[in-house]
Amino acid sequence: MCGIVAYIGKKEAYPIIVKGLKRLEYRGYDSAGIALLNNGELNTYKKQGKVANLEDFTKDKDCSGHVGIGHTRWATHGPPNDVNAHPHASENGNITLVHNGIIENYNSIRQQLESKGYVFKSDTDTEVLCYLIYDIKTNTGVKLGKATRLALQQVVGAYAIVVMCKDEPNKIVVARKSSPLVVGIGKENDFYVASDATPIVEYTKQVVYLNDDEIAVLNKEKGMKLFNIDEDQKEPYIEELELRLEAIEKEGYEHFMLKEIHEQPRSIKDCFRGRLNAEKGWVSLGGIKDYEQKMIKANRIIMIACGTSWHAGLVGEYLFEDLARINVEVEYASEFRYRNPIINENDIVIAISQSGETADTLAALELAKSKGATILGICNVVGSSISRITDAGSYTHAGPEIGVASTKAFTAQVTVLTLMALYLAKLKGTISETKFRTMLSELEAIPQKVQQILDKNEGIKLIAKQYKNASNALYLGRGSSFPVALEGALKLKEISYIHAEGYPAAEMKHGPIALIDEEMPVFVIATSGPSYEKVVSNIQEVKARKGKLIAVVTEGDEQVHSIADNTIEIPDTDEHLVPLLATIPFQLLSYHIAVMRNCNVDQPRNLAKSVTVE
Ligand code: M6R
Repeated sequence: MCGIVAYIGKKEAYPIIVKGLKRLEYRGYDSAGIALLNNGELNTYKKQGKVANLEDFTKDKDCSGHVGIGHTRWATHGPPNDVNAHPHASENGNITLVHNGIIENYNSIRQQLESKGYVFKSDTDTEVLCYLIYDIKTNTGVKLGKATRLALQQVVGAYAIVVMCKDEPNKIVVARKSSPLVVGIGKENDFYVASDATPIVEYTKQVVYLNDDEIAVLNKEKGMKLFNIDEDQKEPYIEELELRLEAIEKEGYEHFMLKEIHEQPRSIKDCFRGRLNAEKGWVSLGGIKDYEQKMIKANRIIMIACGTSWHAGLVGEYLFEDLARINVEVEYASEFRYRNPIINENDIVIAISQSGETADTLAALELAKSKGATILGICNVVGSSISRITDAGSYTHAGPEIGVASTKAFTAQVTVLTLMALYLAKLKGTISETKFRTMLSELEAIPQKVQQILDKNEGIKLIAKQYKNASNALYLGRGSSFPVALEGALKLKEISYIHAEGYPAAEMKHGPIALIDEEMPVFVIATSGPSYEKVVSNIQEVKARKGKLIAVVTEGDEQVHSIADNTIEIPDTDEHLVPLLATIPFQLLSYHIAVMRNCNVDQPRNLAKSVTVE
């Protein structure tokens, strides 16, 4: 977790860094800090809370300098306060650094340094690394780059760091292991560094994504030098960014989350653009072409993910099993990796991740790779760690998702999984030509149907108003609508802080039914399809206990409409595609409830967008 921004060059560093930190606030907002090097002086400012607090604090301070490093924190070691905020400095203040990740062996290094007489100011693992670099530099007389490299050789854990030193003012040193870091190459040796490309895109499109165990010295006179941690110099691989600046702005919406919900007709279309043609009857996923035979012959496919991406995986399980008749298991990445799972070279493991940086998913994937499995990825962020370590995969093309609560990334993941399931089903011959073509046409029509649901926003807002004061909520669904129920509950929990649970509708009678009274809103997906009548029975059970019932139904539904307190109609579609539509009203309901409760929708408490710690 945490966001890093740094700059070295001919411009003023402060505005570039502060603007960049605001773009990275989704990664954590417990504290923010900046250190600027100016004419031999190192000025460091740090404040608990958001970047805006730091801006207020620095209003009357000296913020000049052409070299600087900044940080926005999601606390791991030590509470969120000014002292634990980054940047951290060496005891004499000469060296300062920002860090994203966790130094697992920080305690033993700290004890070692304390025995040499060093006194620490903060509770963080980061300060320990800074002192270690200082200790090596002073005792061996090496330059900052080498001292950093030697220090990192002693470190166990994950890091993306930027280090700066008063005595070597023309350079900054950057390094990464398991936490992302991008270097933007500007004109005439000016360099922009960040945890992702969003703070960089308005200055340059030329970037180098650092790989694990790489370290670079960025010198405003001598340019960039890239090394392996063990000292071999290598050529940086410069890539062209495809990110558009507008994609990371709010564009008139009150919140990023609302913008992203409304972007879904476009993001779903972008996801299948060039990958399907309903008229000609084909689906093509170039990214997995080389592995298609292995996939259709696989005994099983394991999908690993966390949070919302795990819910997408559950939808994928229904699709793969029903359409392509491939056995699928969906695992929480964090559980999978610690379970000594039985996997070998015959297995295919698909990681699903919006950010492509989630530490647990990444580690689970590495484990699967080490056991010989084929590893594939479904990621949104181009160039992310997961997308780079996988053998192959498919991007979701949803565009940058800034709101911490995932919305358009979920529907894009489900769209890719649908395309994959159809592709494999066709190849394997488990789907009839008629069904295949019908599903392609239905999938093509999804963006417009999503738009029809978004057009009901005002009505959904009125429903949200009725339930904004609830303390608990239940979400129920059957089949592939069960993951939609889980996702609906997660959305409500994370942004409005209302306790919510998702259940398979039929499971309700095995326990959760005890919770139902006239105070309990129960959100149900009751769309037409094979399990409709069963869900209606579950609905009756809720009403018999006086629960408040809010049902998502298919247009024209009369039966549920006559029983439920509120209904939200969605257009009819193939039952396999219902999750793509049924999830939209739940996103809007959660959004409106959170806004009505004055919650910070885009940056909910305690959360961060990209969880790069275990
Ligand atoms: O970037 P990832 O998709 O790997 O992230 C996984 C989860 O951290 C993420 O989906 C999280 O649950 C979101 N806050 C959900 O809205």
